[in-house]
Amino acid sequence: MSQKLLLKNIGVEGIKTFEVFKKYGGYSAVDKALKMSSDEILEEVKASGLKGRGGAGFPTGMKWSFLAKPEGVPRYLVVNADESEPGTFKDRYLMEYIPHILIEGIIISSYCLGANTSYIYIRGEYSWIPDILEHAIQEAKANGYLGKNIKNSGYDLEIYIQRGAGAYVCGEETALLESLEGRRGNPRLKPPFPAVKGLYQCPTVVNNVETISNIGAIINLTGAEYAKLGTGKSLGTKLISACGNINKPGVYEIDFNLSVEEFIYSEEYCGGIPNGKKLKACIPGGASVPILPAKLLLKTANGDTRYMNYESLADGGFISGTAMGSGGFIVLDEDQCVVRHTMTLARFFNHESCGQCTPCREGTGWMYRILKKIEEGRGTTEDIDLLWDIQTKIEGNTICPLGDAASWPVAAAIRHFRDEFEWHINNPECLIKNYGISNYEYV
Ligand SMILES: Cc1cc2nc3c(=O)[nH]c(=O)nc-3n(C[C@H](O)[C@H](O)[C@H](O)COP(=O)(O)O)c2cc1C
Repeated sequence: MSQKLLLKNIGVEGIKTFEVFKKYGGYSAVDKALKMSSDEILEEVKASGLKGRGGAGFPTGMKWSFLAKPEGVPRYLVVNADESEPGTFKDRYLMEYIPHILIEGIIISSYCLGANTSYIYIRGEYSWIPDILEHAIQEAKANGYLGKNIKNSGYDLEIYIQRGAGAYVCGEETALLESLEGRRGNPRLKPPFPAVKGLYQCPTVVNNVETISNIGAIINLTGAEYAKLGTGKSLGTKLISACGNINKPGVYEIDFNLSVEEFIYSEEYCGGIPNGKKLKACIPGGASVPILPAKLLLKTANGDTRYMNYESLADGGFISGTAMGSGGFIVLDEDQCVVRHTMTLARFFNHESCGQCTPCREGTGWMYRILKKIEEGRGTTEDIDLLWDIQTKIEGNTICPLGDAASWPVAAAIRHFRDEFEWHINNPECLIKNYGISNYEYV
């Protein structure tokens, strides 16, 4: 059983409340941090090796150290709770069931960054969660952990919640800032980076909910102790939201030493695949990361065991590997049609493209239409090559990585399942869907 940092008190009755959260050690990290200097906290976060949990995996301590500190200019911490990547629902779990862990992390992080105002930008569809967070904020305030002169430290902090309006692109940090400022969520050109010119043109750190929720544990344990959990450059723990063809969908906290096979099949985690079906493929890090067929998912191209950590999932690059991403783990059994699945994702990315960049605006729609044509049995072999060509023209050619996110699933599906695409072309109906026939080597 892996060690739990974030979910260890899930299930304790009343853990949503300040009183119970505090009884179980909550806010002790704030008490400790307020006696430390900003630099000392930063050193602990750096020593912890924490990587951002929003998808890109950028080292949090390094990001914080880039924050500009011009005289007389406010700084902001913005918490990214947009969580709109299909398959990803771990931030929701934290905010819904243990909201004070986020508030505690925000207080310590804002104190370290010298921010007196912090925003939580939350996806519009999480309509019931702002009330939970607002209640937690008011409780923290009533107990002297927010507002003026927190615990007589001389430090002031206010946290505000901003609801999004249901746009995936607003999870991209600069689109998020545009939206927070009241404009349409179009990503900004970088540089300048938010650390220099972010919210209201002021230095800003944008971090994911899970990232910030780790800060209390880092301060309590110390960065060095936190870094003893995990392996290589995957340190601490990670929340995985698991869904698709598994017996036990849900949110799990893993410690990075777990094999993908154990995660899928053990009773402690996904509990295997329903009805004795075979594993066909998996997208381990949210809709945008490359899909891997079962063989490459459980073992790398070199035959090594594949583990649930940043390095092992990425082993083989995008040729024979994938990415940890946001930790949205989507499992496909033998009955699932990869063409249909890829078409569904393409439709999502096309719908969510903000339309600023031509390759993304036009290319995502073009990919969707070709995939639909193939799925409906009207495709040709040339369509597969055209699809491949289009995705190469999107990746790397857009202001924000939504274009990359749209092209990677298509590239990986063609790379690993080209014969299934051809099959669709040669058969007017999807054989897998209709007859359960497949020539894949299942694991
Ligand atoms: C299209 C798109 C959507 C994104 N959605 C989210 C999101 O919902 N939540 C999130 O934390 N990061 C999201 N990101 C990544 C953010 O831009 C940013 O890297 C992240 O919030 C930084 O936090 P971290 O360093 O703690 O991971 C998204 C990026 C892109 C390109």
